[in-house]
Amino acid sequence: MLTRGLRPLLLMRVLAIESSCDESAVAILDRRRGLLAHELYSQIELHRAYGGVVPELASRDHVRRLLPLVVRAMAAADTRPTDLTGVAYTAGPGLIGALLSGAALGRSLAYGWALPAIGVHHLEGHLLAPLLEVDAPPFPHVALLVSGGHTMLIDVQGIGRYRMLGETRDDAAGEAFDKSAKLLGLPYPGGPQLAALAERGRSGALKLPRPMLDQPGFEFSFSGLKTAVQLAARAEDLSDSRRADIARAVQDAIVETLCVKALRAVDSLGHRTLVVAGGVGANLELRARLSAGAAAQGVRVYYPRLEFCTDNAAMIAVAGLERLAAGEREPHRISVRARWPLTELGPPGFAHRLRVTGDT
Ligand code: KG4
Ligand code: ZN
Repeated sequence: MLTRGLRPLLLMRVLAIESSCDESAVAILDRRRGLLAHELYSQIELHRAYGGVVPELASRDHVRRLLPLVVRAMAAADTRPTDLTGVAYTAGPGLIGALLSGAALGRSLAYGWALPAIGVHHLEGHLLAPLLEVDAPPFPHVALLVSGGHTMLIDVQGIGRYRMLGETRDDAAGEAFDKSAKLLGLPYPGGPQLAALAERGRSGALKLPRPMLDQPGFEFSFSGLKTAVQLAARAEDLSDSRRADIARAVQDAIVETLCVKALRAVDSLGHRTLVVAGGVGANLELRARLSAGAAAQGVRVYYPRLEFCTDNAAMIAVAGLERLAAGEREPHRISVRARWPLTELGPPGFAHRLRVTGDT
């Protein structure tokens, strides 16, 4: 598959590693031939008993899983170290120990193979995931970035040129899905489970609040939802149909809020393109409602493939390849950031690296 979204500059092939949370992932992306391999090991089973990600367990499991994934990806892509022109790894934001596991491996492989390395911003990876598709979105566009930790509307002028339009004041959309799912007794990770249960619920059987929907601007607030769900799910013998109705109401509230604000943002900027990125972008109801609303507004919506909405290394490869091609290089040290504002990034080649390498 050709990746038309990537600028055809140099012959480049990168190995990419993602380990910011609970997915260990490795990918190999070739500028000319496209995605040659992508491997993923999900730690879901490991964390399920605890109802959420346990950071220390995540770090240790990344250490166990990543190197075998690298070996598998290299074999699947029929690639030797000498075929590679760089190594990319997620350098933040995320769980610090988990990030360190991937960064230590990526930086060391690059050192051993005498290749340049690049630390990638995880959210830039999500934003650029649609560039893996043949039909890639044009710039400028508005991006709705909805993951477990973030809910943002961004004016994307180009790669690395991000202006924050608004974000959540409290819980992220994915977090709201996950917390509501937990209250309904669904296993971790709750988002997809809640979406599946919602399919059996009746629309309008229960109305949950849509905070900030009527206010101007592009900020979100989802923390009130869990209190509303807590109240609705209070009954001791909650019937299956009632649980499904609540799940449906939660999904409707989140999806409607995201759709209204995203389309309002596209409209107010005069863009014609909306990109949806991040794990919640895998929600089929969100996709259907957004596409319908956008079509009515003459706006085109682009989504990454479902497997590239949630955490993966292919998206890290896209961002890393763009930055390596522009000459960005990581120094010979392992440097990651638990917090890293997206707006600190600049276009590929921009001297932001100097600021980024400060904290480990
Ligand atoms: O982007 P992602 O894989 O990880 C982060 O960077 O956070 O997003 C994970 C989030 C979780 O909150 C998960 O429940 C949610 O995305 N998610 C979904 C669906 N698939 C994943 N939420 C609603 N519906 C889905 N189908
Ligand atoms: Zn993510």
